[in-house]
Amino acid sequence: MIKQETVDKILDAARVEEVVGDFVNLKKRGTSLTGLCPFHNEKTPSFHVSVSKGIYKCFGCGAGGDSVRFVMEHEKYSYPEALRYLAGKYHIEIEETERTPEQAAAQDRRESLFIVTNWAGKFFKETLWDTEEGRTIGLNYFRERGYRDDIIQKFELGYSPEGWTALYDRAKADGHKDEFLEATGLIIRKDDGGVYDRFRGRVMFPIHNLTGRILGFGGRTLKTDKKTPKYVNSPESEVYHKSDVLYGLYQAKKPILDADNCYLVEGYADVLSMHQAGVENVVSSSGTSLTSGQVRLISRYTKNVTILYDGDEAGIKASLRGTDMLLEEGLNVKVLLFPDGNDPDSYVQKFGSTAFKAYIAEHQQDFIFYKTHVLLRDAGNDPVKRAGVIHEVVESIALIPDAIKASVFVRECSVLLDIEERLLIAELNKLRIGRAKKADRKMEQPQAQPQEEAPADNQGTPVPVARVSSDLLHEREIIRILLHYGSKPATWEEGDIPIAPLLLSGLSDVSFDDSACLAIIDIYREYIDRGELPEERVFIAHRDRTISDLAIDLLATKYSLSPNWNDEKRKIYVSHESERLEDLLYGAIYRIKKRKVEQQIVKIREAIKEETDAANMEIMLANYQRLKDVSKVIAEKLGTIVVK
Ligand code: UTP
Ligand code: MN
Repeated sequence: MIKQETVDKILDAARVEEVVGDFVNLKKRGTSLTGLCPFHNEKTPSFHVSVSKGIYKCFGCGAGGDSVRFVMEHEKYSYPEALRYLAGKYHIEIEETERTPEQAAAQDRRESLFIVTNWAGKFFKETLWDTEEGRTIGLNYFRERGYRDDIIQKFELGYSPEGWTALYDRAKADGHKDEFLEATGLIIRKDDGGVYDRFRGRVMFPIHNLTGRILGFGGRTLKTDKKTPKYVNSPESEVYHKSDVLYGLYQAKKPILDADNCYLVEGYADVLSMHQAGVENVVSSSGTSLTSGQVRLISRYTKNVTILYDGDEAGIKASLRGTDMLLEEGLNVKVLLFPDGNDPDSYVQKFGSTAFKAYIAEHQQDFIFYKTHVLLRDAGNDPVKRAGVIHEVVESIALIPDAIKASVFVRECSVLLDIEERLLIAELNKLRIGRAKKADRKMEQPQAQPQEEAPADNQGTPVPVARVSSDLLHEREIIRILLHYGSKPATWEEGDIPIAPLLLSGLSDVSFDDSACLAIIDIYREYIDRGELPEERVFIAHRDRTISDLAIDLLATKYSLSPNWNDEKRKIYVSHESERLEDLLYGAIYRIKKRKVEQQIVKIREAIKEETDAANMEIMLANYQRLKDVSKVIAEKLGTIVVK
């Protein structure tokens, strides 16, 4: 276990904007920083980082938390792993309390796998540069292919020796365990129990995660005989999930952001050659078709993708197939084909970087037009095939989430296909309606009573929103005021006592239904009893997720959650909020009381209807009258609080 003092040190050092900023391109907007949310796919930023509160919050998907939570969710780390990562980032020495060997083993398994893969990366690299075999075989191969030393170093390329157990022997000598070597696929166990290295006599391409740690490897053979597979790859492991990794993204992150474009290629060789030519915004899907996880990775950094493929038939077909997902995720997709069976690598090596850059600048085409051309060319004058082309092109257009962009394609494709625009639109709508129905069926689910009008997407289809009952809204409003203004002085009171005790004493007769709200109130009461006030961190870093989620949610919103104001009023209201704390405080107290009293009135009215005993009835009626009176007083009080 990491000692609490170390945890505190880490929490103090880990500035949320720095931690998040390593993964998300943040731009300053008003008092907060915003960017594209890394936890869901979006086109306009709804991800906010509050520097002063030390939290992030996405108003699109609801993700939120502090630095530690961010690292946990983003890197899929456990709590201690996230702390270790942050300790590393901020050069904080970790002090641990004693652990049993079993505890240590369980907690550190993933970390151990990382240690082994990164150790192996170093081993391959050193073998390449510092051994006779590595230099004459591996390094010579790279140099003969035309790769410069700085590129070989930038991608941490390596070489695995020929011997069957070269890596294994060194690993054992360096104290690494079979278990981890096997789990990362670096060694393979035979039926007789013996082991041998997976990678032998190959040049090695390490695959990095976004923070530059090595997850696994691709190893290319230097033999030309057909029986040897060209590449041997690390298997999936607890740290290497192939569908969520793109080769070269670690080195390309920043260039992609800068260029606002990402080139997508097939192989390691293409990535290296393009970097060497000075085109660094490039990643490789490593020969397999793209996964949605990979597409989402790209779309964090840019919405513009250009697919570079070999100009042969297979390359063309691949470019048509792999693209639907890119369109669906709202990316702008271009394609670029190389002439005469060249790939990006061979083109750069043959014609040089200037010619390469000129070629890619001139030959990019929009995917939809390209697809139309290719299909039309294949269909020739066959009318049936041409009708099929129209359908296929419209299918791709229908995937584009942005209606305006789609309509531009409809117009231009109508010219290419020589067909009236309105016929294409009719076809498009037919597809859309079919899809919407399918999606609706998926989303049908019971909903609480509606509060606000559901927002509509750009096709006018209502988007489901999480619904919050009105009661909960009132309870949350109280918590929101506590968290935002609890320690501010109530200037209108004698002695400037803080808002929190004042608010809580005003609510002593109100019972809270929501367990997270209640827990926060209780924590406040405990602190106040001791003459203290809790810090935000008590809630943000609370181990009960319902409490930390609520606190983060509320700290992230300035806006009052009451549904009773329309937007105009709300905007004005919010801008004045902190200057009129007295009204805010009493408004909230009376509103929640009114709500609770109204509920009691409804309950008692129901009970009166059922009651048959005259004496009971009398008591109930008296209670009813009292509640009505209270409700009237509250209404009057509320009336004196002007909502500006
Ligand atoms: P390529 O055959 O184009 O490889 O396959 P390359 O990296 O460009 O290699 P060179 O130019 O011949 O040296 C594209 C990608 O497909 C994956 C690799 O990730 C490769 O980079 N692949 C290919 C494999 O995983 N296994 C294979 O046997 C072949
Ligand atoms: Mn190649």
